[in-house]
Amino acid sequence: MVKAALTPGERAVARCDVLGEPPFSDESGLLYRPWLGPGFIATVEAISNWMRQAGMSVRQDSAANLIGRYEGTTPDARALLFGSHLDSVRDGGRYDGMLGVIAALEVVAGFHERGERFPFAIEIIGFGDEEGSRFPITMLTTRALAGVLEEDDPVAAFAELRDADGITVEQALAGVGLTPRGMATARRRKEDVLAYVEAHIEQGPVLEAEGRALGVVSAIAAQRRFEVKLHGQAGHAGTMAMSLRRDALTAAAEMVLAVERIASAGDDREGLVATVGSLRTWPGVVNVVPGDVTFTLDIRAGTIARRDVTVTEILTALEDTATRRSIEMEILPRENLLPSPCDPHLMTRLETAVADVTGQPARVLVSGAGHDAMIMARLVPMAMLFIRCERGISHNPAEAVMAEDVNEAITALTRFVRLFAEDYSKTQGRHSS
Ligand code: GLV
Ligand code: MN
Ligand code: MN
Repeated sequence: MVKAALTPGERAVARCDVLGEPPFSDESGLLYRPWLGPGFIATVEAISNWMRQAGMSVRQDSAANLIGRYEGTTPDARALLFGSHLDSVRDGGRYDGMLGVIAALEVVAGFHERGERFPFAIEIIGFGDEEGSRFPITMLTTRALAGVLEEDDPVAAFAELRDADGITVEQALAGVGLTPRGMATARRRKEDVLAYVEAHIEQGPVLEAEGRALGVVSAIAAQRRFEVKLHGQAGHAGTMAMSLRRDALTAAAEMVLAVERIASAGDDREGLVATVGSLRTWPGVVNVVPGDVTFTLDIRAGTIARRDVTVTEILTALEDTATRRSIEMEILPRENLLPSPCDPHLMTRLETAVADVTGQPARVLVSGAGHDAMIMARLVPMAMLFIRCERGISHNPAEAVMAEDVNEAITALTRFVRLFAEDYSKTQGRHSS
């Protein structure tokens, strides 16, 4: 019996699955693909080959973004950009980020197979550090490409930041022949790019609950991140009296609960959430009162006003605890992302494409998760397509998608490109196939 060829959706899922294991993950038994690690480098190599098979030329820019380009009908045409991120959180899912790159690759592979070209080029970008899972900073590579790196994070502010092994951003870049200062030259000129479109798993439960495969994003929530360092006093667990302790971990415990209490008091409709995702104790042994603790703080809401009122409330609560417990505290701001509305015209086109493919009006929803699209919106008009995922689970190895949904996403993106070409031709040139 001849085995039926995979659908583009099945092939996309299969490729994400292949990339979910070593050598594309830095740890065996789980997926962890930090920016510029060995798994990341192997992944760039694998996707580069798939891009070439899909008729694209491939390069890496000075920020190590992977860029595949499918030429338009004229050389040097402006580019419609697709993209998402290649990195993952530790013990993450296989589709967060990666599916956006691989699904776009299937869209281009389809055009290549049919010999279909447009008066603009199509580029697919695999960004490097959207998750911030290696260094305490995110989206440096996206900022470099969007031309806002220096404005957001002057080199002096990020080059010396260290990963958990003590390697600085500068050293990690040097490992692939790049420099922090050189990253900014990845900047794209506004006049060379037309729009940015990112497909991503929803990472929430709405589409599944409503029985829909796809959704169109209206905006991405605002977020702020901090690193909090507590310095108490380490001491002998057997001899240091309870009343004399300056235990950094019990202070942190009180702070973590305050974060949860304050964020829980918000209204669900405001999209207010706050998370302490990482907490490290020093020296971290059984018979020493913890002297130092470092933890992360991530606070998000639908509006800047709601987010910032909560930030103030949380930081005040942290100060109170630190003072009462005689703990020295440093609060280091690590991220400040404004809410990003999607471009209304691109949204309309994406909604039409989704409605044409699914046979029902597109569901429009807000993204609580951050995306490269937030930064890209500062360079070009931006839109996002959401793909249903199982039980809304993400940042978890249980992350799952259905190949049929991914196939619909690929068909919808294909339809979107043709609609985009119709608009483009009205103002600039003609769509030729
Ligand atoms: C990225 O996944 C984020 O929203 O933290
Ligand atoms: Mn993501
Ligand atoms: Mn993520």
